[in-house]
Amino acid sequence: MTTNNATLQSWVDEVARLTRPDRIHWCDGSAEEYAELVQAMVQSGELLALNAETHPNCYLHRSHPTDVARTEHLTFICTEQREDAGPNNNWIPPAEAHAKIDALFAGCMQGRTLYVVPYCMGPIDSPLARCGVEITDSAYVVANMRIMTRMGKAALARIEREGTFVKGLHSTGDLNPERRFIMHFPEELTIKSIGSGYGGNALLGKKCHALRLGSWQARDEGWLAEHMLIVGIQNPRGETHYVAAAFPSACGKTNLAMLIPPASMPGWKVWTIGDDIAWMHLGEDGRLWAINPEAGAFGVAPGTGPKTNPTALNMLDHDCIFTNVALTADDQPWWEGKSKEVPAFDWRGQPYDAVSGLPAAHPNSRFTVSMRQCASYSPRAEDAQGVPISAIIFGGRRKELAPLVFQARDWRHGVLVGASVASETTAAATGAVGVVRRDPMAMQPFCGYNFGDYWEHWLSFAERSDRLPKIFHVNWFRQDDSGRFLWPGFGENLRVLQWILERCAGRAEAVETPIGLLPRSQDLNTQHLDVDVATLDALLAVDAQRWNAELEDIRSYFEKFDERLPTGLWSEFERVQNALEHGTQVA
Ligand code: GDP
Ligand code: PGA
Ligand code: MN
Ligand code: MN
Repeated sequence: MTTNNATLQSWVDEVARLTRPDRIHWCDGSAEEYAELVQAMVQSGELLALNAETHPNCYLHRSHPTDVARTEHLTFICTEQREDAGPNNNWIPPAEAHAKIDALFAGCMQGRTLYVVPYCMGPIDSPLARCGVEITDSAYVVANMRIMTRMGKAALARIEREGTFVKGLHSTGDLNPERRFIMHFPEELTIKSIGSGYGGNALLGKKCHALRLGSWQARDEGWLAEHMLIVGIQNPRGETHYVAAAFPSACGKTNLAMLIPPASMPGWKVWTIGDDIAWMHLGEDGRLWAINPEAGAFGVAPGTGPKTNPTALNMLDHDCIFTNVALTADDQPWWEGKSKEVPAFDWRGQPYDAVSGLPAAHPNSRFTVSMRQCASYSPRAEDAQGVPISAIIFGGRRKELAPLVFQARDWRHGVLVGASVASETTAAATGAVGVVRRDPMAMQPFCGYNFGDYWEHWLSFAERSDRLPKIFHVNWFRQDDSGRFLWPGFGENLRVLQWILERCAGRAEAVETPIGLLPRSQDLNTQHLDVDVATLDALLAVDAQRWNAELEDIRSYFEKFDERLPTGLWSEFERVQNALEHGTQVA
């Protein structure tokens, strides 16, 4: 297999001259090709075959111990003008970036195979989908790309028809964090990544293409590329409404996308469309329509258990790649929260020492699995036009302050709410865990351009439609002084979604506060909910003094964006500040 697309052919030739691979393999995406790749990796030790009886066709990959999460300090947006990347991104001028990274690519594939991986982000026949080609020397990356995207022949055919594609060059290099870079050239629709095999750094269709370059293209073309799950919520009347929700990495997207209704909510059903990324376009009807550009889930393993997320657990017992999980004595994958069993080996393959107190699975260990294995996968997930979104939800992981749920007054206020998101850092990125940082729209690691311009773009939708989704903010992660979660979370989150959808339908009550509209405890469905009234009241309280301090922090954060910060956002900010000062509502 080669191509009749001259641009693609000459780029592959050029990369081969630079990286000097022993072989070039054009991926067709077939089952046979996948099986051969997997067999070769089992032989080389890159993959370990798991228990064939309990987990047929499942494999464990143990990464290099320094290569277990996204590395944001090594991720760059390389635009001609520094201001276009914005204070929210690391920046190097494109020429310097190319020179620096090409020097690392020189000869890096000697003795290895260069794989050409054509892929499509989004349903293959969708006008909203976009294609790319990833060149990589990692068979693990190829296997993951086959699960996560529509990869191979059909994608190549679409590229040959359309002529355009995103170029992504990847090599695991020598895995030395000193020689690890993830560089984006949005003006050239090009990505170059070296020195990491970790999903977010190496599966270039995901964060690099669908979010960083995607957000850039979306701004230019008038749509939105967001770090959001997409889910359909069916009520007992049989009506399904779609919701998109942005939470930072490891803050509950995959779980919410696969939620199982609690026993006390009969007749409710949740349909999964996507668990990490949404591409959203304004339809002719003025509504916002969303597709999931991905075909698989690259999910956090720890915490995935029979009580918290049985839907996810059930999709992981065949045809799945695990990365950095622990192993039982009979070769089953294991992680904290999965079962009471004690694993035999930790994520590094060492005999597990239970008294060490260390987790057996890496806190950012992951599973890669096709969405088709998800029991709640929506029959509309492959719709070329996507699904219409009724509500957008922003959220984060905050021990304190942020209430369980509140609604923004309107779209513009909602943009402020999104721009003001802060969340505790997690193991999904290297660095300290549990530190509150600002993470607007959960896009801090993923917005491929200046956040000031991004918020302006978000605000501009208010002028284009009067049928936009309602905007909300949630926080499942409030804790008491002893570190116990105040809200049970997981399936019970459906109670909050019920209030949200009833607000959208104009059926639920709310009280107006300076920060937005909140339910009182009696406005939530609390039937058979095991949370006392005092706790519920604490979850729904707005502490004006603390919010004043929060607003000061938001102000100093916004000031970094200088004249790129939209005036429309400042005026929203001032409205909230005024309301807080005078103890009035924001409306
Ligand atoms: P994602 O990375 O945003 O997709 O987040 P996940 O859905 O994979 O969840 C990340 C971690 O948060 C996992 O360990 C989950 O068990 C945990 N988690 C998810 N939802 C909730 C929730 O509602 N409450 C609590 N306490 N933990 C949650
Ligand atoms: P997550 O996806 O958001 O599901 O954790 C991976 C990531 O964001 O790195
Ligand atoms: Mn993510
Ligand atoms: Mn996830």
